[in-house]
Amino acid sequence: MKIRKAVIPVAGLGTRFLPATKAIPKEMLTIVDRPTIQYIVEEAVASGIEQIVFVTSEGKSAIENHFDYNFHLDAVLKEKNKVTLGEEINNISNLIDVVSVRQKKPLGLGHAIWTARNVIGDEPFMVLLGDDMVLSQVPCAKQMISLFEQVGESIVAIQRVPMNQTHQYGIVEGEDDDRERTVRITRMVEKPAPGTTESDMAIIGRYILMPDIFNILSTTTPGHGGEIQLTDALLALTKKRAMYAYEFQGTRYDAGDKMGYLKAIIAYGLRHPDLGQSLREHLLEVTAAYDPS
Ligand code: UTP
Repeated sequence: MKIRKAVIPVAGLGTRFLPATKAIPKEMLTIVDRPTIQYIVEEAVASGIEQIVFVTSEGKSAIENHFDYNFHLDAVLKEKNKVTLGEEINNISNLIDVVSVRQKKPLGLGHAIWTARNVIGDEPFMVLLGDDMVLSQVPCAKQMISLFEQVGESIVAIQRVPMNQTHQYGIVEGEDDDRERTVRITRMVEKPAPGTTESDMAIIGRYILMPDIFNILSTTTPGHGGEIQLTDALLALTKKRAMYAYEFQGTRYDAGDKMGYLKAIIAYGLRHPDLGQSLREHLLEVTAAYDPS
């Protein structure tokens, strides 16, 4: 059972990032020199994924265009003899095979994934959220695929969060497994009220799912926030078969949140081969000179 396909849901409204996201999808906001979504697609490609399924909605065509061939731009760059830039732009459209499906209403992440069922079919698949970035040596998706090759069951990526922040995440509870950084899930809950869980294991935007999830999603009723929650369907799936939580190696940035976005720009900027050193020096200078008055 090879993981060949990845669903990237990008149909959300991005209300946390208004007004920036009024006319521009949040997934197209730039981190240093490329949109957030390109990093995520590159992670999928580097992890061996062969096909991406974007779950889109009205106003998200910029994402599809970004991964498409732009004949006009290519012609202009050739005319201006900008060969390297032209190649770089064309490489984006050659990265991977992309398919789009539409989520007609923003009914929640669970519903968005269900929308991709006919393209995925009856095989396990990866989900990468379109605004969740992971900076790591080995791509997060690849780490998860390695674990999948051992367990052959669904896996959710997790990070440890301070106990006073658990109400902001989907939280999993479970028992330690023999494998490193791996927990066998016994319970999960979306945004638990403070004091209702003792677990600090928060779900982030990377999943490997068995195709049984589609049947479960088709009967999942709206949960937290009136949305069809993926976490509710995952909990139902744990009743049928094993599911694992994997504490990935790396740092996750929620680029759909203003603070997470700023942190991502700094982290990726500092690692940029041409800009990193100057940015480091500049940050030291501005921090030393900063006067809040
Ligand atoms: P978020 O809750 O982070 O996205 O959903 P959002 O709804 O766009 O953002 P806010 O909270 O209003 O700022 C996580 C992921 O699920 C997708 C989003 O695009 C994002 O990648 N999503 C969410 C959908 O595709 N459809 C939905 O109905 C909800």
